[in-house]
Amino acid sequence: MIKKCLFPAAGYGTRFLPATKAMPKEMLPVVNKPLIQYGVEEALDAGLTEISIVTGRGKRALEDHFDISYELENQIKGTDKEKYLVGIRKLLDNCSFSYTRQTEMKGLGHAILTGRPLIGDEPFAVVLADDLCVNLEGDGVLTQMVKLYKQFRCSIVAIQEVDPQETNKYGVIAGEMIRDDIYRVHSMVEKPKPEDAPSNLAIIGRYILTPDIFDLIEQTEPGKGGEIQITDALMKQAQNGCVMAYKFKGKRFDCGGAEGYIDATNFCFENFYKTGKAY
Ligand code: UTP
Repeated sequence: MIKKCLFPAAGYGTRFLPATKAMPKEMLPVVNKPLIQYGVEEALDAGLTEISIVTGRGKRALEDHFDISYELENQIKGTDKEKYLVGIRKLLDNCSFSYTRQTEMKGLGHAILTGRPLIGDEPFAVVLADDLCVNLEGDGVLTQMVKLYKQFRCSIVAIQEVDPQETNKYGVIAGEMIRDDIYRVHSMVEKPKPEDAPSNLAIIGRYILTPDIFDLIEQTEPGKGGEIQITDALMKQAQNGCVMAYKFKGKRFDCGGAEGYIDATNFCFENFYKTGKAY
């Protein structure tokens, strides 16, 4: 079954400058926890224990975060502050972490291809940590998707209905509805203008991909913005075989921009921090 989860985290995070000038976007704290930790926790909840992170220049804080800090641990040992590290220790005890660097930022598709040596020839999940996903009612989004993978055995993208005026921020799908929350994808367009969008069903930062995607990315020419788009490779996969789109249960916050980040902060403060579930 799926064990590996890839975190492309090499992007510049320009929407969050100057905060992201010397600090990875994925280390921005939502209340008391960095974005990437929420993502890895969601992965572990889904049974994904082999965490692979695609980093870039200036991203070393990510590696340090998923490591033991002996001085710090020694300092707080036996005090009530130990509770602050319970969550991160759980991740260190249960997951392995491996890293590779994307030396040129040629887009999300290229970042995923850069992770190929860490993934090999097996299905894997992809999490864009700046999309913070939570489901207070039940399974996390990745857990929901892993369950679906067991049924369909093909690539799955998480989708959400967005304001039709905002399609130009997303990859947008069109497809045949096979259940009220599942579509078989027929077409996919990267960041279409509202008038060109095939629907308002937007792909968000959770994917399950079968490993044939790597060859398809290799054959993909740079698309919108000169970047190698995962959407273009997924479109080929949908034409050759099968890609499902899944309207997940839960909330998603786009923490790559200020508005979503503030909404996420308020939500996590109310639902996790104030209730003592934040560590
Ligand atoms: P974004 O489109 O959010 O780009 O990338 P970005 O650089 O992170 O942020 P902005 O738009 O400049 O503010 C989506 C995801 O893909 C990763 C990013 O780290 C983010 O998780 N990515 C993107 C890479 O790893 N490499 C790339 O070349 C591009």
